[in-house]
Amino acid sequence: MCTPAMTGLDIGSKTIKIVELEKEGEGFSLSASGIVGYSGITVDRMIDEKEMASLGQIIKKLHKEAGVSSGDVVISIPEPLVFTRTIKFPLLTDAEIASAVKWESEQYIPIPVAEAVIQHTVLARNEKSSPPEVLVLLVAAPRAIVEKYIKVVQFAGLNAVAVETELLALTRSLAPPERTVLLVDLGGSSTNIAIAKQGLLAFSRSVAIAGDAFTRAVSQGLGVTAEQAEEYKKTYGLTSVQLEGKVKGILDPVLALVADEIKKAVSYYLTEEKGETPDALIITGGTSAVPEMISTMTKLTGIEVLAGNPFSKIKVDTGTAQKLAPYAPLYSVAVGLAMRD
Ligand SMILES: Nc1ncnc2c1ncn2[C@@H]1O[C@H](COP(=O)(O)OP(=O)(O)OP(=O)(O)O)[C@@H](O)[C@H]1O
Ligand SMILES: [Mg+2]
Repeated sequence: MCTPAMTGLDIGSKTIKIVELEKEGEGFSLSASGIVGYSGITVDRMIDEKEMASLGQIIKKLHKEAGVSSGDVVISIPEPLVFTRTIKFPLLTDAEIASAVKWESEQYIPIPVAEAVIQHTVLARNEKSSPPEVLVLLVAAPRAIVEKYIKVVQFAGLNAVAVETELLALTRSLAPPERTVLLVDLGGSSTNIAIAKQGLLAFSRSVAIAGDAFTRAVSQGLGVTAEQAEEYKKTYGLTSVQLEGKVKGILDPVLALVADEIKKAVSYYLTEEKGETPDALIITGGTSAVPEMISTMTKLTGIEVLAGNPFSKIKVDTGTAQKLAPYAPLYSVAVGLAMRD
């Protein structure tokens, strides 16, 4: 019997991840996965045709080696290039909201509507609040960027069936259904911050400080090569005893900047959006594996920090689960993309 499968493809600035899930009743099971590191693309993603073709080849190889069966993939657009905001409408019907978004999005997004791809999702219908309101999440991305990503996928011989934002995907794979939590993806070029309420994305922000900035700081601070700095970061991280805490001394103020942005995001959400205080901070992404990240982030934010496991909502056989465990932080976006209905 053929079960419907969906594939998520996360083209990060440092690594590319692919995940294939099969639908099993109400849930999912993992059928294929793979990661490849590559020389990376910069955050503006202003890559030319030739770079797109070679990126396509890397993805083609990953897709094949991971053993993904279908050529249809869901891809994400990097959060720094996406504009997200929540808007309140009076109690309109879904059709009326679609029309309002179409005609009024100009006033909500900073890019010309003609040059943007715009999507919206109804987050909540608060019929009992006064006045009654509908909360709508509006997501806009520059059309040129979206087209570029679709083209890269075509160069890989694959077909992009849907495009969405990294934090929407992350919310699907990591957010618990009944609480308000912070989700923080510490990647290579950016740290993406979301607040998810009852399993739905309610707030998002992206900060251009992540693993690359850590490595650069260590390299400059200790006068070592980028390769050496990368090693120090991964081996010593935020531990205070090793190398007389020199690496920690360099990384602490960089992480403090990220923590400040997280705290700012929470206070904005509380005051401007009348949200409730997140009761946990779930971290993921390659940089979440920096030694002592969890304890340091807990100290800096005062919020309970937990390591996200993108496979917690997915059926994975025991052997595969053991093999994948060290890479789990890298898969959160790809899993969420594949979980898209
Ligand atoms: N074990 C580890 N300890 C510390 N840092 C790590 C570890 N493994 C990976 N990293 C760092 O994680 C970063 C890459 O993470 P990830 O693959 O999540 O980024 P990305 O998705 O490619 O980037 P972005 O999301 O910013 O586009 C790199 O900066 C790398 O140095
Ligand atoms: Mg990433």
